[in-house]
Amino acid sequence: MNRYSRIVGTGSALPGEPVSNAELVRRLAERGVVTSDEWIVERTGIRQRYLAGAGVTSSQLACQAARNALAAAGLEAREIDLIVVATSTPDYVFPSTACLVQKALDAPGGAAFDVQAVCSGFVYGLATADAMIRTGIANRALVIGAEVFSRILDWNDRSTCVLFGDGAGAIVLTADTCPGVRAARLHADGRQEAILRTAGNLSGGAIVGHPYLTMNGQAVFRLAVSVLDTVGRETVAAAGMTLDQVDWLIPHQANVRILDATAKRMGIARERVVVTVDQHANTSAASVPLALDQGTRDGRIQPGQHVLLEGVGGGFTWGAALVQI
Ligand code: ACO
Repeated sequence: MNRYSRIVGTGSALPGEPVSNAELVRRLAERGVVTSDEWIVERTGIRQRYLAGAGVTSSQLACQAARNALAAAGLEAREIDLIVVATSTPDYVFPSTACLVQKALDAPGGAAFDVQAVCSGFVYGLATADAMIRTGIANRALVIGAEVFSRILDWNDRSTCVLFGDGAGAIVLTADTCPGVRAARLHADGRQEAILRTAGNLSGGAIVGHPYLTMNGQAVFRLAVSVLDTVGRETVAAAGMTLDQVDWLIPHQANVRILDATAKRMGIARERVVVTVDQHANTSAASVPLALDQGTRDGRIQPGQHVLLEGVGGGFTWGAALVQI
């Protein structure tokens, strides 16, 4: 009998109250940084973001999203035998955020590890968990994207600090005789590592290098649109399907102009793209599962439909998974 993995529950977590562009503009003005609601909306489509308060960690947001996904799936945390957390803002250097989540959920014994592929992290984690379930290494997995990106932003750099937010999204993935995940494809080009990075580290008790995110926005924009198109087509073809059979496109939520350009290149109507970047800003590894959860809970994504999930981010990394709900 064929063995596949299937999404049986989704969940989200967003910290505190939304911070509107107007409120962000006011806070930045206090430190002499000039920006405007008009600039942010016109260039990015972002209208608000959630910012974690002091002491709120990626593992806490991940746990909250995981509990919501488990409730939707009707499963207990102790039934989970694999936890994959995609994050670039882990609580610690080690142990992994996944191990902290496992402890907080009181679900010991299964495998737990983090995936580091920045904004592609959730799709990398989903492809990894799918492969582990199909090969019998795991039976019931939590795949979580969780970030507190606000901690690695330079709040004096207006070209980056207005773009990001904090949050977590999770799915429960279980073994099934029906698909589920129909195909997944992952890529990276390490030669492009310098266009988007946080090039700092801990050494001898001190920060070495630069502890804040830096980005060549235009280079990222060009590459993102190109690879989201190619990997989307590659993944749909690998599933033996065509783009017109895709009911919903959920690309990484970096910027509404990237979403629009990607949908246009792929010939997918705007109405078939789930867009949350206006409400959440760019939450890196959390953005795709947050959008999937929103589209599921508001009733747009229906059982049996095909959803194309796409990630792109630092590394440079990109990937896609075609999933039947
Ligand atoms: N408010 C007001 N003005 C600003 C701001 C701001 N927050 N930030 C930059 N500007 C100014 C610049 O100083 C510049 O002014 P100048 O012309 O007087 O020099 C002007 O706006 C234009 O700056 P550009 O960087 O050329 O603006 P661009 O149109 O390229 O938009 C943006 C910048 C939004 C970052 C764009 O390049 C982009 O969308 N890139 C994609 C990157 C992205 O979305 N990254 C997210 C993370 S990556 C990922 O998730 C894959």
